[in-house]
Amino acid sequence: MTRKILVTSALPYANGAIHLGHLVEYIQTDIWVRFQKMHGHECYYVCADDTHGTPIMLRAEKEGITPEQLIARVHGEHLRDFTGFHVGFDSYHSTNSEENCELSSTVYLKLREAGLIEQKTIEQYYDPVREMFLPDRFIKGQCPKCGAQDQYGDGCEVCGATYTPTDLVNPVSAVSGSTPVRRESEHYFFKLGACEAFLREWTRSGALQQEAANKLDEWFSAGLQNWDISRDAPYFGFEIPDAPGKYFYVWLDAPIGYMASFKKLAAEKNLDFDAWWHSDSGTELYHFIGKDILYFHALFWPAMLKNAGYRTPNGVFAHGFLTVNGAKMSKSRGTFITAESYLASGMNPEWLRYYYAAKINGSMEDLDLNLADFIARVNSDLVGKYVNIASRTAGFIAKRFDGKLAASLPASELLGEVQHAATLIGECYETREYGKALREIMRLTDLANQYVNDNKPWELTKQNGSEALLHEVCSVSVNLFRLLTLYLKPVLPKLATEVESFLNIAALTWTDAGTLLTNHSINAYNHLMTRVEQKQVDALVAANQQSLEPTAETHSPARHAEAQAHTIAPIADTITVDDFARIDLRVAKIVNAEHVEGADKLIRLTLDIGEGKTRNVFAGIKSAYDPEKLIGRMTVMVANLAPRKMKFGVSEGMVLAASGETPGLYILSPDDGAVPGMRVK
Ligand code: MSP
Ligand code: ZN
Repeated sequence: MTRKILVTSALPYANGAIHLGHLVEYIQTDIWVRFQKMHGHECYYVCADDTHGTPIMLRAEKEGITPEQLIARVHGEHLRDFTGFHVGFDSYHSTNSEENCELSSTVYLKLREAGLIEQKTIEQYYDPVREMFLPDRFIKGQCPKCGAQDQYGDGCEVCGATYTPTDLVNPVSAVSGSTPVRRESEHYFFKLGACEAFLREWTRSGALQQEAANKLDEWFSAGLQNWDISRDAPYFGFEIPDAPGKYFYVWLDAPIGYMASFKKLAAEKNLDFDAWWHSDSGTELYHFIGKDILYFHALFWPAMLKNAGYRTPNGVFAHGFLTVNGAKMSKSRGTFITAESYLASGMNPEWLRYYYAAKINGSMEDLDLNLADFIARVNSDLVGKYVNIASRTAGFIAKRFDGKLAASLPASELLGEVQHAATLIGECYETREYGKALREIMRLTDLANQYVNDNKPWELTKQNGSEALLHEVCSVSVNLFRLLTLYLKPVLPKLATEVESFLNIAALTWTDAGTLLTNHSINAYNHLMTRVEQKQVDALVAANQQSLEPTAETHSPARHAEAQAHTIAPIADTITVDDFARIDLRVAKIVNAEHVEGADKLIRLTLDIGEGKTRNVFAGIKSAYDPEKLIGRMTVMVANLAPRKMKFGVSEGMVLAASGETPGLYILSPDDGAVPGMRVK
């Protein structure tokens, strides 16, 4: 039966470049879509740029262009990067489109009709210089819990406390540097709380992974808060119907952007838009997203769709985050790698597609790009094993048999086993267990190589009377290569196309696993893939390594609905030398460092400050440091800070680290020669 399937990836923000973290999602979705299309299903993959909101407005201003100019440029850049990685959207639109404006109003008005919109006056921080209300991430100040400086309005990165901006001590606007004032404004809220019964039921509908459903249960227990969907001017977005000067919050129109992108496609392809979004249409809808935006996709979005009279998703597939060499992507380490730089370095995008696929397992766990493993795995699996099958045997077909495959094939057992694997491999792709699919494909690839090794075509050429056998052995191995190519095609679409032209065959579909090629003329073999060289990877990391000086170009990967501003905190008020002398700074040696169970940001440090005693310090540096690498290193600590009781134990001091431009966090160290306990003045 032909299925009708609509698939989306999350819409990337239009104020930053696509990086290797994003690609975990787009490559993963693309593989699934290509797999569905190989089955002959009517499948569409839609996406768009997410163009609205304060960060985009401010970014454009900083660049001295209009938001429209900014998003037009970034749209081109994003599409270029996706195309470079063979991510094949059927429609790549923009949330700042007519379709989206119209659909957003429609959805909103239906929610209002359903009694799910309420107005409420709230108090927020307002920047009197820039004359705008400030999103949480654009306000900085001192943490009300632990006193750490320079924390954002939504939570403290040092002690992990969460709070609202009005709790910050000495708040400062990150936009203008001025002191924000509290101001009242009327906001529009979507009554999520009223949708709880429906959402609880939807959670059990099978649309969510188990881990995601568990997360939702936590959210239900915590209680669903009504959702603020409006923002005051100045704001780059859509004005709310009947509410002049009020705009839809970016996250209201962003998911509606999925519909808008499909609407554009529907107009081009003459598809029935309404039927696809109707609840009993028999069509399927799947969203691939990162785990950070689950709340939006598993609560707000289905509740909006349902109450506006549309169908709800059949599946929301959340994935984890990319780490590189075991740590969060970092600009200073050169592991915050942009898609553009990867492509510009001449590295093959299918190497990365293969590596990601090998690690994707359909869960919400984070995924690590270990660069040494990347080189080893690609070279061994793809070049050493898979491509090798063709390169070892295709030449004989061309030279000895006029490019024609044999009329009959021995090794029917082996061929049969490889053909039958289509079912298992297909199930793995369908359930997004790509790693398992590739392990099976590599097992079969090993069998194919073993077959060539056992039959030694290079020796058969030397034996009289072995022509027919040589022909058959080489034809079997070309057939094995064809089947393996078919199975790899969702992951390696470009390579598969090259193999199709080498084999002189039509585009491979999934059912082609049921057939074999005999008596068929193939073309000359050209080498299909080169090895990854260490020096290419080194050059890529070097190209992405940024000096620690913040630049206007830096884009934060912070996982928040609104990215933060890129300003340096203003210099604080002056203090006297005596004030400073009260702070006892000491050189300390990190004698142990370990993760703290249950803490997102903390590392537990054991510091030697020379008195033969050690201090226990919890430092909010997990995002930037691997504990193992810290052991043995020297740093500087505040030795006379009053001990603080934290959730995980008592912290007896503080280590010094520079921060500001997220994700940068840099522990200070003394020059060589300093010993534990030395006073720092
Ligand atoms: N604009 C929102 C999504 C709106 S969807 C209606 C957004 N944009 S984003 O550019 O920040 O992220 C786009 C997608 O990429 C998200 O699903 C996000 O989880 C994913 N990733 C961004 N950084 C990532 C990693 N480092 N690793 C894996 N996925 C990452 O969120
Ligand atoms: Zn704090």
